[in-house]
Amino acid sequence: MTAHKRYSTTQKMADLLLDDSRLLTLFERMGIRLGFGKRSVEEVCAESGISSHLLVAMCNIIAERNTSPDIRSLGREDLRAIVDYLRLSHTNYTDHYFPTLHNHIHIMAAGLSAKQQQTINSFYDLYEASVMNHFHHEEQVVFPYINSLAEGKKPENYSISEFAKTHSDIDENLADLLNIIIKYLPDSDEDMASHTVLRDIFHIEEELDKHTLIENCLLVPLAEHIEQGDFGITAEGSDEGYSEDRSQTKDEERVGELSAREKDIVIAVAGGATNKEIADKLNISIHTVVTHRKNITRKLGIRSISGLTVYAIMNNLIEVGG
Ligand SMILES: [Fe+2]
Repeated sequence: MTAHKRYSTTQKMADLLLDDSRLLTLFERMGIRLGFGKRSVEEVCAESGISSHLLVAMCNIIAERNTSPDIRSLGREDLRAIVDYLRLSHTNYTDHYFPTLHNHIHIMAAGLSAKQQQTINSFYDLYEASVMNHFHHEEQVVFPYINSLAEGKKPENYSISEFAKTHSDIDENLADLLNIIIKYLPDSDEDMASHTVLRDIFHIEEELDKHTLIENCLLVPLAEHIEQGDFGITAEGSDEGYSEDRSQTKDEERVGELSAREKDIVIAVAGGATNKEIADKLNISIHTVVTHRKNITRKLGIRSISGLTVYAIMNNLIEVGG
């Protein structure tokens, strides 16, 4: 399958960035300096000591989303460069994106009631901790394994198919936070601090999206290819398997008011009740509870339990006392 790709190594380097500004952080992390003049991708990459095939593959993945790169033009040594890129992007989150967002969320929350403040701050803290965990696992387990592959070794205790199977999306809670701020923030935001928070979230979402695309569309297939080619290992997934459609069903429906019964369920969920407990308490079947919960998610655009809790507190569905 030789699908036409947007960028090639013979193109002028400047044209890539002029075509898609989202490539800027990629160039930055790959150590590519600006001021390209008329030089081609090949020429600039040669000067920077990086593989032009790798760079073009990364640019195509980011610009076209889910494109399957031509793995055969890449080699084992490229794995190390991808890991270096991913490590640097982790550092950007931990040193810059998250501290900035954390700070802005606290400023925004300062206008809310004490209970609401505490809820939104701890929701964010949980989200940040879950992403940090994700990064930590990659840095401690996945990246060292990939670097071993790059050195021509194949550790027995791990394979990239494990990573592909367990690699989770880390943007669900961020999407919930986005919905809560856009739709359900109480009217106490005099300094428009929520706009700054949203800008931060949009930026982080975009960066996380690119990060995950590079992992799923490049790191996994290339590592699998090296595992198979160099070590004769049969990996379980096929290259196609990792370009699964990650586009989520966006809630196109108008956000409706929750029914009284749905509000009861939100309150119960926020209180930590299981579907079974809710069914017993409201005297309905578990199936009905599940249906209500689906409808609530569809109406509010909020998926996680912690997100529903924040919604409930923002909308005073839960007693503000304790
Ligand atoms: Fe990841």
